Amino acid sequence: MLTFLLAVLTLSLFVTARSLARPTSFVLIGDSTTNNNTVPNSGGWGNGFCNSLVPGTPCINTAHDGATTGSFVASGLFNISLAAIQGEVSRGRRTLVTIQFGHNDQKIAPPESMGANMTAMVEQIRAISGEPVLVTSLTRRTFFSNGTINDALGPWADETILVAQEQDTHLLDLHAASIKYVEAIGPDAAHRLNRLPDDNTHLNANGTIVFGRMVANLMAESFPHQLPIIPNPELSFNISHGIASF
Ligand SMILES: *[C@@H]1O[C@H](CO)[C@@H](O)[C@H](O)[C@H]1NC(C)=O
Ligand SMILES: *[C@@H]1O[C@H](CO)[C@@H](O)[C@H](O)[C@H]1NC(C)=O
Ligand SMILES: *[C@@H]1O[C@H](CO)[C@@H](O)[C@H](O)[C@H]1NC(C)=O
Ligand SMILES: *[C@@H]1O[C@H](CO)[C@@H](O)[C@H](O)[C@H]1NC(C)=O
Ligand SMILES: *[C@@H]1O[C@H](CO)[C@@H](O)[C@H](O)[C@H]1NC(C)=O
Ligand SMILES: *[C@@H]1O[C@H](CO)[C@@H](O)[C@H](O)[C@H]1NC(C)=O
Repeated sequence: MLTFLLAVLTLSLFVTARSLARPTSFVLIGDSTTNNNTVPNSGGWGNGFCNSLVPGTPCINTAHDGATTGSFVASGLFNISLAAIQGEVSRGRRTLVTIQFGHNDQKIAPPESMGANMTAMVEQIRAISGEPVLVTSLTRRTFFSNGTINDALGPWADETILVAQEQDTHLLDLHAASIKYVEAIGPDAAHRLNRLPDDNTHLNANGTIVFGRMVANLMAESFPHQLPIIPNPELSFNISHGIASF
């Protein structure tokens, strides 16, 4: 019995060590709520997410301000993302590719249009051996007077979830997690994470730390014990308990 337990323990340690050792890269695709250059170190959650990784982990943020799924492809940005993915895969790395849209797609077409374009992205990423990870839109920090979020992005989040189910990809429900958190910390604390006081969409440096960690935590939950993510127990505690960090 003891020998058996030791064998199981050894095997599980081996499996854990092996999966942890597998070199992993990240390529981020999306709009300004993922991007990292609105002003230095702010804009979207991408920079905070990349900074949550073990140093040296490639994390290539190809997201772009104002992008819809359609404009991202038509302007050649998606080809730049594909080239980045191909580069990482060719170095023998497991390459996880986040895709988050909705904020701008919402302004031009019904959710199904974004969904069809997202599905095509998933197929093309898989065709070059990248692993797509769909992410629902970061919430805007626009509140009703009763303290709940005035959510216009719900149907685009639902569409993202549907594509993830249809295509059997990993899914990070950032939309739900971010609504839950900002409703818990309330409007004043939520707005302290704004890039500018009246900009409820983009993040300042503190906002990118908080929501970057939220994405890192959702990612770690979705791929348990596999990813080079540095834990931040204190910030993760604040996020999971609805406590304002800043
Ligand atoms: C984000 O942008 C800043 C400059 O604005 C740069 O120093 C930093 O390395 C970028 N982070 C990532 C993860 O690309
Ligand atoms: C999806 O892509 C098509 C082109 O293939 C484009 O006409 C449409 O506007 C895109 N939809 C969105 C929401 O960007
Ligand atoms: C992206 O690359 C494909 C394949 O090389 C090409 O057919 C397409 O025209 C490119 N798209 C843009 C917008 O340049
Ligand atoms: C808060 O207010 C909004 C807008 O009036 C309303 O739609 C929503 O149901 C309210 N929520 C709660 C929990 O009272
Ligand atoms: C967690 O929240 C507390 C209370 O606001 C704050 O003092 C602390 O700095 C936060 N920790 C982190 C790591 O953000
Ligand atoms: C981030 O939070 C720190 C600590 O609360 C504060 O000193 C700083 O001004 C904040 N930065 C921004 C851009 O709000």
